[in-house]
Amino acid sequence: MSIVTAADVEAAGARLQLRPGQRLTPLARDRAKELGVEIVEAGAAAPAVPTAPSTSPAATPMQPAKDASASARPATSLAASAGGSTRPFAPLVSGAMYRRNGLGPQGANGGGRRPRAGVVGAGHVGAMAALRLAESDLFDHVAIVDVVPGLAAGLALDMWHGAGLYGFSTPLSGSDDLSSLRGCDYIIITAGKPRQPGMTRTDLTAGNAAIMKSVCEGIRQHAPDATLVVVSNPLEEMTHLAAQYTGFAQSRVLGMAGVLDSARFCALVGLTGKARPQDVRALALGSHGPEMVIPLSQAFVGNAPIESVLDASTLSAIVERTRESGGEVVKLLKTGSAYFSPAESAAAMVRIMASGSNEVIAACVRPQGAYGLTDARVGLPVRLDRRGLKEVVQLPLRPGELQALREAAARIAQRIEELAQLPSAPSAPAPAAATA
Ligand SMILES: NC(=O)c1ccc[n+]([C@@H]2O[C@H](COP(=O)([O-])OP(=O)(O)OC[C@H]3O[C@@H](n4cnc5c(N)ncnc54)[C@H](O)[C@@H]3O)[C@@H](O)[C@H]2O)c1
Repeated sequence: MSIVTAADVEAAGARLQLRPGQRLTPLARDRAKELGVEIVEAGAAAPAVPTAPSTSPAATPMQPAKDASASARPATSLAASAGGSTRPFAPLVSGAMYRRNGLGPQGANGGGRRPRAGVVGAGHVGAMAALRLAESDLFDHVAIVDVVPGLAAGLALDMWHGAGLYGFSTPLSGSDDLSSLRGCDYIIITAGKPRQPGMTRTDLTAGNAAIMKSVCEGIRQHAPDATLVVVSNPLEEMTHLAAQYTGFAQSRVLGMAGVLDSARFCALVGLTGKARPQDVRALALGSHGPEMVIPLSQAFVGNAPIESVLDASTLSAIVERTRESGGEVVKLLKTGSAYFSPAESAAAMVRIMASGSNEVIAACVRPQGAYGLTDARVGLPVRLDRRGLKEVVQLPLRPGELQALREAAARIAQRIEELAQLPSAPSAPAPAAATA
């Protein structure tokens, strides 16, 4: 299924022909009515949907171009058939669908209750992710926590002041006390130091491990049923520690890197002028770093294999630049690291779970036998459900791609073993306190 957004409607002219499998968001349908655009359902004869980049009207202070930004969300998901064969990816779910109840948000247990979301760390990534979650209007409440007194409360209030302008009604709260996460179904963890120029992600390990320990102890106490999306770096190590410190089931501790790295790849392909980022489907697997693996056999532009659209040397340069994208941003910023796209990526993972959209994305998980991998944590193609990891999706990788994935997993496993030397290392695996 692919989504036709309000921006596509605005670019369509007088008529918009839907192709089989295309779905119009409720907001897009409303926009079509407002503009008098005739929607022609799939199968009926009419001009094709435009493939040129959508042009939305410029935002005004009173009417931000929110749906244009939703439609520009990179397509990083893969829809695999039940039989295991794959077909090209569909775009990530749009927040606009939730605002008009296009997909009914439900509690993590599938009941009628709207889920509650939390974000720990109200810095660059955390603040933006919290705002994105609130804007989706999918949640009962978004709770933000930061160790700095007043920071989370101030940001939550500031975000709420803009609610009417943007058009969301999800309440936000901010606190320096982890008990405010009580009842959260999903928690994004961004607490920790970001990289500075010249630093590798691994340089952050000791400091961020201590922060992760205190955060996870609070989560374990106050939100024992939550599903975690870990963002803090180094990503694979922090995801591993979050599972150890909370004792949560492996399926409820996910690391966010693959959605971001996949999006970066799609965005860089977009710079070639051969495709819009949202028309590119690819998955970044392996590690969030030098061992990142982007299997080109699984990358598409529309329905065409990407290798038929771009030559090998262009693709290889794009893969290399994707691997280095985080560092490229750090170097330019001079202080701190990327946060717009990381925040968008973490929020997308939570929205995918909360909506039960069943998309295939890349996430850092415990492989438990998939791809012949048994230990470590590694970025793999997965399907999520309302409670976290539903399944690892087995893609038909080329032998070289599979080998690269296995080598990435081995190097991550080595780094995870080294965590045992940290002062904050868990003395023994925490008992699996919570179910599921
Ligand atoms: N996985 C990814 O793809 C990805 C992408 C970007 C950033 N990151 C990582 O995310 C983390 C956050 O990045 P940022 O740019 O938002 O950093 P930031 O410095 O802007 O924010 C971090 C926040 O965490 C808070 N914090 C520290 N200790 C805490 C604790 N014990 N409890 C609650 N809050 C605490 C700090 O007060 C600060 O506000 C970094 O580790 C960064 O490397 C990961």
